[in-house]
Amino acid sequence: MLRGIFQIKKLDDIMASAESGPSLRRDLGAFQVTLLGIGAIVGAGIFATLGTAAAGDAHRLGAGPSLMLSFVITAVVCAFTALCYAEFAALVPISGSAYTYSYATLGELVAWIIGWDLIIEYAVGNVAVAISWANYFRTLLESIGIPVPLWLATDFRTAAHIPGLFASAPHVLGVPIVFNLLAFLIVALITIILVLGIRESARFNAGMVLIKIVVLLFFVAVALKYVTPSTVVANWHPFQPNGWKGTFAGAAVVFFAYIGFDAVSTVSEETRNPGRNLPIGIIASLVICTILYIGVAAVFSGILPYSVLKQKLATEQAEPLTMALDYVMKGKQSWVIGFVALGSVIAHTAVLLVFQLGQPRIFFSMARDGLLPQSFARVHPRFRTPHVTTILTGVLVGGVAAFASIDEMVDLTNIGTLFAFVLVCVGVPILRHTNPNAQRPFRVPFGPYLLPLLGAASCVFLMYYLPPASWWRFVGWLVLGFAIYSAYGYTRSTIGQEMGRPRITPWTLKVASLGFLLTAGGLFTIPHDAGLGTLIAQAGNAAEADHGRSLLGLSLIVVGLVLGVAGLLIETGDRRRA
Ligand code: ALA
Repeated sequence: MLRGIFQIKKLDDIMASAESGPSLRRDLGAFQVTLLGIGAIVGAGIFATLGTAAAGDAHRLGAGPSLMLSFVITAVVCAFTALCYAEFAALVPISGSAYTYSYATLGELVAWIIGWDLIIEYAVGNVAVAISWANYFRTLLESIGIPVPLWLATDFRTAAHIPGLFASAPHVLGVPIVFNLLAFLIVALITIILVLGIRESARFNAGMVLIKIVVLLFFVAVALKYVTPSTVVANWHPFQPNGWKGTFAGAAVVFFAYIGFDAVSTVSEETRNPGRNLPIGIIASLVICTILYIGVAAVFSGILPYSVLKQKLATEQAEPLTMALDYVMKGKQSWVIGFVALGSVIAHTAVLLVFQLGQPRIFFSMARDGLLPQSFARVHPRFRTPHVTTILTGVLVGGVAAFASIDEMVDLTNIGTLFAFVLVCVGVPILRHTNPNAQRPFRVPFGPYLLPLLGAASCVFLMYYLPPASWWRFVGWLVLGFAIYSAYGYTRSTIGQEMGRPRITPWTLKVASLGFLLTAGGLFTIPHDAGLGTLIAQAGNAAEADHGRSLLGLSLIVVGLVLGVAGLLIETGDRRRA
């Protein structure tokens, strides 16, 4: 075994290294933390993905009117995890969130995996939010008579499904130019705001949170004005058009709408009295959003019949909430549509803000532990913000958002986040066992096992209902992370250095890293909608459509695994002999 990869970081050391290193400004109280939570939660999930959850798509069944039940199920899953986050955030008020908690419970390798996995939640999640922002922003501009060409507000693959779009785009050397400029621009703007400072950002957030609550309530009120209670009840039949499978698949999609209560924990180092204010912020923001969501879901499925929704989502580029209003208002009063689109744009902006704020703080914590380059832990001398990682996150998120498709990003975000939640839930009983006497300002009720284990099991349950494509991509991402850890983090880690690991990465680990890199490349190459059996069959039969991709991808995976495992085994043997 490599030296000390399951070495945990002691709680006292975690607190000490945070206090001795570069520090952030403690400015936020319980109210602001709750607002940050709501700011992170209400966004693309309720304004965009609820349509996919209700109608289903090529990869999953729709929940239909049982969408409101999907929201309840996911709220329960998130509540278990929220309690676990609250216990950790109060006990270890350090900016790294789940990354820091797993360093204290499950050791360095798992901490690295979680830190790497959280990039999916924060950065990939924000890619999806930026794309959804662009859709609503375009609707908003259109409602005030400013049309934006679709080729500047969508990605290439989505464009392929929209009739006439390629023909209307400019061409260079015969290739149509299609990219999401709007998504890129909003990420750039948010990045600039965040480099300027957290206090300014928190104020900006509070205003946006108020607007997003008002606009969701406005949606419910306007919708109910246009339909009778008997129409609503009639549209709720059949309640579960695809049975429980549809309801659960819907729950796995709308999980995206709840992501964010955990992001509160990334501002731990900027919160006053974190032992009290963080649990309040995490739990209060989740409860408020759950109530809002169930109301919106009930009204949404009550005004728009399931069959109409399915047909519209398959053939139009439309945003669900404004589409539902347009349906009942029959094209009248476009200012209402414009107002909801405006509220939605603002809601999305708040989510972008909190996640763009969270990601750099996780990078910051990982760099402080030596797992990422030290430049990632730099704090701006004047603004006291982690400007290097903030700008890096902005470039990555904005760059990918210009070209990616939203549904794929949502599925990937959900699976990655659920995985992080599982490890946080499992961490609670472990830390209660290893550090029974640590002062816990907040404890998960009913003992260390019941709720945390229910939380972990229910997150795995939701992961099961996500499409296979998200599983392949997720595993590919984790293997890529493992390649980076073998080549960099293992030797640079602060704890590793204290334990006497080599300063320079040995050739064996370089080989292992190359192997994992090839495996990840293979996992990204294979066709993602097939299971393993189908892939092997396709690779072995030259007549199959995806033969070439399957063969190349599987070959890379096998060669990579052989190299990776061989490198690790030789390194382990060398260690033993040394
Ligand atoms: N919960 C966040 C959203 O729905 C990620 O946009």
